[in-house]
Amino acid sequence: MAKNILVASGKGGAGKSTVSVFLGEALAGGKESVLILELDCGLRNLDVSLGLTDEIVFDFGDILRGSCEAKDAVYNCRFCPNLSLIPASLKPVSVSAEDIKKVVSELGKNFDYIIFDCPAGLGDIFESAASFADMALVIATPDPSSIRGARATGAKLLSLGVKERRLVIERCPEKAKNLSPINNLDEIIDGSELQLIGVIWEDAFVRKSMDCGVPLEFESPNYKTFRDLSERIRGKYIPLGIK
Ligand SMILES: Nc1ncnc2c1ncn2[C@@H]1O[C@H](COP(=O)(O)OP(=O)(O)O)[C@@H](O)[C@H]1O
Ligand SMILES: [Mg+2]
Repeated sequence: MAKNILVASGKGGAGKSTVSVFLGEALAGGKESVLILELDCGLRNLDVSLGLTDEIVFDFGDILRGSCEAKDAVYNCRFCPNLSLIPASLKPVSVSAEDIKKVVSELGKNFDYIIFDCPAGLGDIFESAASFADMALVIATPDPSSIRGARATGAKLLSLGVKERRLVIERCPEKAKNLSPINNLDEIIDGSELQLIGVIWEDAFVRKSMDCGVPLEFESPNYKTFRDLSERIRGKYIPLGIK
């Protein structure tokens, strides 16, 4: 059965979808197969990032309505064949734990990982997905409100029974002085009350790849970062490489 990884944050725009896509690509770069379940219903985006815009017929909303089987809404990424997507519905919908169960139980045997790309905040979709999460990545950018959101998200996940929770710091400037008003990364780790598993750099390659539906270029400072993150998810010890 797949390992289900929930990607969440308190605030919107923290980088959940970005981490979902590039972690997915990195995990799928080996022999393992990865499904991203895009749960930001009403704000579908990942079909663009995975170069699938012209191919989508069914989405998560169709699965919920019973208009198709879960497998009919799975689309393979052209440039990363082991990576698949169930696109979010174009319209907002509410999602119960039973709805998530349907996807996980029908498709879990076909994938090594299912990544739940959650909407921002701690709403019903987040809670429903958390019921089936084996681990969670909580995304925070280096700003006080995002850190506070990460702490609330981590605490809520724990109350929902998700014990394995890790912090990913997103959009980190390479120069420490640009972190202001935060003094250092320790402040983010302490403030979130979560264990750090990866730091993603602010990077124009990331935006280009997400917006144009092309793979992350090797020149990106995050190419290795996401591969290291994927190895840590697999349980390997890879030093964080930050002071
Ligand atoms: N490391 C990064 N470097 C540069 N831009 C980034 C980075 N991570 C995310 N972004 C940009 O920030 C915006 C929000 O990211 P996104 O992943 O959509 O956030 P969320 O899913 O949490 O709402 C997008 O325009 C994305 O391209
Ligand atoms: Mg998103």
